[in-house]
Amino acid sequence: MRKKIVAGNWKMNTTVPEGVQLAKEVVAKAVEVPSDVKLIIATPATHLVPVAEVVKGSVVGLSAENCADKEKGAYTGEISAAMVASTGAQYTILGHSERRQYYGETDEKLVEKTKLALANGLGVILCVGETLEEREAGKHFDVVGAQTLNVLNHFSAEDMKNIIIAYEPVWAIGTGKTATADQAEEIHAFIRKTLADKFGAQVADDTTILYGGSCKPSNANELFAKSDIDGGLIGGAALKAEDFIQIALSF
Ligand code: PGA
Repeated sequence: MRKKIVAGNWKMNTTVPEGVQLAKEVVAKAVEVPSDVKLIIATPATHLVPVAEVVKGSVVGLSAENCADKEKGAYTGEISAAMVASTGAQYTILGHSERRQYYGETDEKLVEKTKLALANGLGVILCVGETLEEREAGKHFDVVGAQTLNVLNHFSAEDMKNIIIAYEPVWAIGTGKTATADQAEEIHAFIRKTLADKFGAQVADDTTILYGGSCKPSNANELFAKSDIDGGLIGGAALKAEDFIQIALSF
């Protein structure tokens, strides 16, 4: 049976002291959340070590927002999967649309990043999603299907135990425009079918597929009620502990 997950993606927000404070608030409120809902916070790399201390012993998991596509060495400014794992983080987000759009993240690089993340014991939150232009051209299924398979074709059913998928339509991220629950469900069901065709029904059924893009306390209920939506990847609303927890209470 797949897990319900609510993951917060802090992006490039908060200083270290602010992030530690926010993590403390999330941990304090996490006791309100039923035990079948997994909470994860994804913080900037600078925050991972002190936030790992804060979440230690709590039900809150810790994630990076990215990791390098190389193992180690002369790659100034990069942070390897082994470094992320050594902070105490258990996950990393990969392939967020902001990284695809602004930092040249290609599916090829994502294959390398995913391999390294898994090899270092990290769970991967792999993001996929179409742009507004692609949706308006009716290409959303093709785009999301290709993004999913271009990476997952390189992985096994066993690897899928440590891969979470996040569907994040680019036009809904930070725009206040949420995909309707029906629009999101349609793509989630399509992703699950894609996984079933590739890995079999059991893997498809066991894989958590999150929705992201202006998910907030006022719309999480309707989204999470859909059978193929297993939780959310939350940006803006994850920066307020109360809103983040409220979303986790929306199943
Ligand atoms: P948002 O971001 O909730 O602010 O739209 C979601 C995300 O990009 O992960």
